[in-house]
Amino acid sequence: MERKLKMARARIVYSCQNCGYQSPKWLGKCNDCNQWNTFVEEKFERAAYPRAEAGPGGHDDPTSIAEISIAEEGRVLSGIGEFDRVLGGGLVPGSLTLIGGDPGIGKSTLLIQAFAALSQNGLTCLYVSGEESPRQIKLRAERLGIAQPSLLILSETALEKILEQIKKTRPAVLVIDSIQTVFSSALPSAPGSISQVRECSGSIITLAKKSGLSTFLIGHVTKDGSLAGPRVLEHMVDTVLYFEGDRGHNFRILRAVKNRFGSTNEIGVFEMKEGGLKEIGNPSELFLLERPLEAPGSVVVCSMEGTRPILVELQALVSPSFLAVPRRTTIGVDHNRVALLVAVLEKKRGVKLFNQDIFVNVAGGVQVDEPAVDLAIVAAVASSYQERPIDARTVIFGEVGLAGEVRGIAQAEARVKEAGKLGFERAILPSSNTAQLKHVKTPKLHGVSSVDDCWKILF
Ligand code: TYD
Ligand code: MG
Repeated sequence: MERKLKMARARIVYSCQNCGYQSPKWLGKCNDCNQWNTFVEEKFERAAYPRAEAGPGGHDDPTSIAEISIAEEGRVLSGIGEFDRVLGGGLVPGSLTLIGGDPGIGKSTLLIQAFAALSQNGLTCLYVSGEESPRQIKLRAERLGIAQPSLLILSETALEKILEQIKKTRPAVLVIDSIQTVFSSALPSAPGSISQVRECSGSIITLAKKSGLSTFLIGHVTKDGSLAGPRVLEHMVDTVLYFEGDRGHNFRILRAVKNRFGSTNEIGVFEMKEGGLKEIGNPSELFLLERPLEAPGSVVVCSMEGTRPILVELQALVSPSFLAVPRRTTIGVDHNRVALLVAVLEKKRGVKLFNQDIFVNVAGGVQVDEPAVDLAIVAAVASSYQERPIDARTVIFGEVGLAGEVRGIAQAEARVKEAGKLGFERAILPSSNTAQLKHVKTPKLHGVSSVDDCWKILF
């Protein structure tokens, strides 16, 4: 009797459409991701993919670590440098990559361009689109000047048919655009729901791992919950990339947030043009292009994005506030970090900021979230408050502590060299970093050990 009840109960499960959390009863708010009203009733299905399958290496028994061979897996270069860099130096055969991003940002364009480049190298590429017809894809390809015969296009949303075609055409690289449109008729839930996304990607992943097929899954990130977020997939894949950008700007940033085969936080910069995405080899130049010279509140900082130093302009605007609680608005830098640095500035330099609105912005829609930008934030706020510009050929970086001390940062040499390359004449950096940089001639280095020191140099 009890067993029967158990079985009957197990058939229905409620899953959060945002994060995939499952619960035996309906919940108003998800325990896991704290989203409201995201639970949908679904039939409980045992996932078909992880069950008793051999692991990614194909071994059933444990192996001694000494016996595992690590024959270097050859990477395949697409020829699009920025794309290869973000992947960690080319495409790893048999790897799985998830590319997320807002609709219309250029995911399909990026992948069709990458596939065109890969098929030029003689690889068979299969582009499965659940969103566009072959005609539409062809029109886009015409615009991009793509007509490689080994680039195969399939417009299909049924999982079973897609798997059949993969087995038939045996491609070397595959893209599913997008994973939310694929559905399996074995599942009762609607396309785009969490269980469909999980089941379909599970089946594709199993097939891909077995046959050494490199796969890209495109996923939309939407806030309204009509399509399941691809976040549930993040732990199933090897690499997670985000394609970001501002609709107001033409440049797009491809960012690796997880990479089993390379460094994360690596970015690739592209520009969306009439003829598709163009790589930008030297992003610093672009980010500094429209910089106002000799304007108070503008500071250039060198931030590391993965393995690459990038110079960006940081702007601050300090103006008298008429609000009881003055505004602190930040774009591109951490809000709490700015609040902390403003407090340091008030305490250590006696600058009165309690009745001032403070806005901090990183020009060009770039995000910088490392402590090395602290000193530049302090300098920008101080410069705007005093209405005194900072010399346009100076670059500033360093971490600031609560006592007003400036701490050393990682990869100072790469940052200084990048600044020198772009014609900067002076660098203000932590004094603990200058010791190893005695050989650097340009820019001229000024080591500082406290916010006070930096102030004295600047103003
Ligand atoms: P798309 O790749 O369809 O975006 P996603 O797949 O992420 O939804 O890109 C669509 C946008 O890109 C669209 O607004 C038009 C623009 N675009 C160009 O500016 N130039 C081009 O050559 C192409 C193909 C698209
Ligand atoms: Mg698309």
